[in-house]
Amino acid sequence: MVNSCLVLLCSFISFSILASSQQLDGFIYTRFNEPNNNITLSGSAEISQNGFIQLTNETSRLMGHAFYSSPFQFKNSTNGTAFSFSTSFALAIVPEYPKLGGHGLAFTISQSNDFSTALPSQYLGLLNATDVGNFSNYIFAVEFDTVQDFEFGDINDNHVGININSLRSNMSAKASYFDDDLVKQDLNLKCGKVILAWVDYDSVTNLVNVTLSRFATKPKLPLFSYHIDLSPFFKENMYVGFSASTGLLASSHYVFGWSFKLNGEAKFLDLDLLPSLPGLKKKHTGVIVAISVIVVVLVLIGILVAIYLVRRFKNADVIESWELEVGPHRYSYEELKQATRSFKDSELLGFGGFGKVYKGVLQSSNMEIAVKRISHESKQGLREFVSEISSIGRLRHRNLVQLVGWCRRRGDLLLVYDFMPNGSLDNFLFEKPRMLLTWEQRFKIIKGVASGLLYLHEGYEQVVVHRDVKASNVLLDGELNGRLGDFGLARLYEHGSNPGTTRVVGTLGYLAPELPRTGRATEKSDVFAFGALLLEVVCGRRPIDSKVRPEELVLVDMVWNKWREGKILDVIDKRLKGEFNESEVVMVLKLGLMCSNNEASSRPSMRQVMSYLEGEADIPDAPMAPGDYNGGFGFEENECMHSLASSRGHTSCLANGNVDGTFVSVSTAPLSCLFTDELPR
Ligand SMILES: *[C@@H]1O[C@H](CO)[C@@H](O)[C@H](O)[C@H]1NC(C)=O
Ligand SMILES: *[C@@H]1O[C@H](CO)[C@@H](O)[C@H](O)[C@H]1NC(C)=O
Ligand SMILES: *[C@@H]1O[C@H](CO)[C@@H](O)[C@H](O)[C@H]1NC(C)=O
Ligand SMILES: *[C@@H]1O[C@H](CO)[C@@H](O)[C@H](O)[C@H]1NC(C)=O
Ligand SMILES: *[C@@H]1O[C@H](CO)[C@@H](O)[C@H](O)[C@H]1NC(C)=O
Ligand SMILES: *[C@@H]1O[C@H](CO)[C@@H](O)[C@H](O)[C@H]1NC(C)=O
Ligand SMILES: *[C@@H]1O[C@H](CO)[C@@H](O)[C@H](O)[C@H]1NC(C)=O
Ligand SMILES: *[C@@H]1O[C@H](CO)[C@@H](O)[C@H](O)[C@H]1NC(C)=O
Repeated sequence: MVNSCLVLLCSFISFSILASSQQLDGFIYTRFNEPNNNITLSGSAEISQNGFIQLTNETSRLMGHAFYSSPFQFKNSTNGTAFSFSTSFALAIVPEYPKLGGHGLAFTISQSNDFSTALPSQYLGLLNATDVGNFSNYIFAVEFDTVQDFEFGDINDNHVGININSLRSNMSAKASYFDDDLVKQDLNLKCGKVILAWVDYDSVTNLVNVTLSRFATKPKLPLFSYHIDLSPFFKENMYVGFSASTGLLASSHYVFGWSFKLNGEAKFLDLDLLPSLPGLKKKHTGVIVAISVIVVVLVLIGILVAIYLVRRFKNADVIESWELEVGPHRYSYEELKQATRSFKDSELLGFGGFGKVYKGVLQSSNMEIAVKRISHESKQGLREFVSEISSIGRLRHRNLVQLVGWCRRRGDLLLVYDFMPNGSLDNFLFEKPRMLLTWEQRFKIIKGVASGLLYLHEGYEQVVVHRDVKASNVLLDGELNGRLGDFGLARLYEHGSNPGTTRVVGTLGYLAPELPRTGRATEKSDVFAFGALLLEVVCGRRPIDSKVRPEELVLVDMVWNKWREGKILDVIDKRLKGEFNESEVVMVLKLGLMCSNNEASSRPSMRQVMSYLEGEADIPDAPMAPGDYNGGFGFEENECMHSLASSRGHTSCLANGNVDGTFVSVSTAPLSCLFTDELPR
């Protein structure tokens, strides 16, 4: 009796020991925010309160990882064969700009869950430039890639691929899935909606199947099957998880649920149990049908009403409620149309950076105005910008062109400014000037612009970065005072409304070299552009001028070379015929070089600039070498510079080059880098 009890007890104990040492072979997560969730996060990855994993947010060059904390045994230790596995997960990719993704997300099996030496962007946070393709990486990944990277032979900017120890896919396919009738349906990975994915490996048939769907039930056919024996690519213990990265363009990457199983099929993920992204809706078929019917009926009624209204008020402005909250005066379209004589060509003052500028006279007050007409396709960018108008409208300084009002009509934004009788500074400097400015006039203009810019940077409740300081944005009033125009406008484009561009907005020759890398305009990038302006005012030529000898193409370089040779006076505009105050001119040239420094931190602030210009502080004797200016691209190959020089230095240059290790390749849209200035005149 006692004996049998002992045996029972012993077997019970040995059984429990066996059970606890039994290797874990799978899991299922329908939310990740439980304590002891066994998920290890690194980089930008976080678990939201709602319970999903957010691997990256919409910040440039991030990487985020979420891995199961302990490794799994992926290989039979006796004979070295990889085990079968199966996994299912729900993911979503929400790009910063609707049509442009910011690199991808990868389901990963790897020997380590430490990716501290990996790189973001096209490296997906998995590898770096030196270890790509190395067999001792032991990385197997299924990538969901939203950027076409030519370096790694990507087929398009919306594909799923299998990568082994590398980022060059062994097999990939355009993202799509099979519906219930086995018809292939396209799937946009960066649609911002929940996507279901399955990765199954069968160690007997040596097939990896990758399957996608928009719904929870697994399609009968995989997107593709790849024949490979994974045994040589696995170590005995491997970690499983996800990695995601962003480049210059960014997306948020999410994982909502995840199941995994070794030697068996992963458990079904019920979409209704998963957390949802605020803004992302789950599918509820019944409700959806009902809502759709209601929506269709409402839309029909809406269309009828709209047709009626349009017929009735054909020319009236459609004012949306948010527009009424905006500060400065809102003119009616009719008023501005009358003022500019229906935007007649004879009233055209010029083509500004963002659109045509018309002269007008307001009937009510006889006031002279300049009306800038900006066409903008994206309503959202427009709305954000218009909400900024209220703060821009409050900026007042005698060296800023005052915004007096605005109007929106459909996709057109009309901005009303004080009229500047003398037009823009570039008309007085380059080619055949209307009138030659003396040095005193030039110096006064420079000081005016500096004080306007200082006000934008420091004089207002928040820092306003101009983003597009240049001669054609400096307007001259009746007394030839320099006034800065177009402040804040570049933001309209930075807000990602134009999907064909990276975020770098500005004008070639004035773009600070760090801009393409950081994508962020700062006070220091304004100072850089101001430096270019100083040099062009003294030298009477554009910062980049393709009509001169190649070694003089870039003004900063030329000035610096002359400075080193001790011939600085050679650069001064010959048309001044030697009539200038030498110490002022030299001080402005030195200041121009200081502001043009490639290192943002070596440039002075506008406050310092102002005190040098006012003679309150002495400028350092010898300026530092500004460094080679690359036109503001950071492109190693400088292809842009060549194509720019040959096309008179201005328009469409492909944003398709190696920008500081980040390959920006955007296949969807016209790739012109928004150089806002020089439209053909
Ligand atoms: C985490 O791992 C421990 C030990 O393997 C297990 O008991 C626990 O249930 C796991 N937690 C979750 C949320 O899977
Ligand atoms: C994005 O993530 C990074 C890294 O975790 C963080 O520093 C940054 O504040 C986040 N940005 C936003 C807008 O949440
Ligand atoms: C590993 O392989 C050996 C030899 O083929 C086999 O006997 C054993 O059952 C396998 N182990 C597992 C866990 O499959
Ligand atoms: C290893 O063992 C498994 C059974 O666990 C078997 O299916 C497989 O064929 C074996 N591989 C080799 C190389 O013997
Ligand atoms: C690249 O990653 C490997 C590890 O995979 C690391 O040893 C190496 O130092 C990294 N190289 C660089 C340049 O970071
Ligand atoms: C691969 O990586 C290992 C360890 O990081 C290193 O010793 C080896 O030289 C690398 N091989 C190649 C071809 O780079
Ligand atoms: C594909 O996988 C094999 C390993 O079987 C590897 O040698 C090869 O470099 C991989 N890449 C491509 C593009 O085929
Ligand atoms: C992979 O897909 C094929 C059909 O293409 C199917 O016959 C096979 O059973 C699938 N294997 C797994 C492990 O799902």
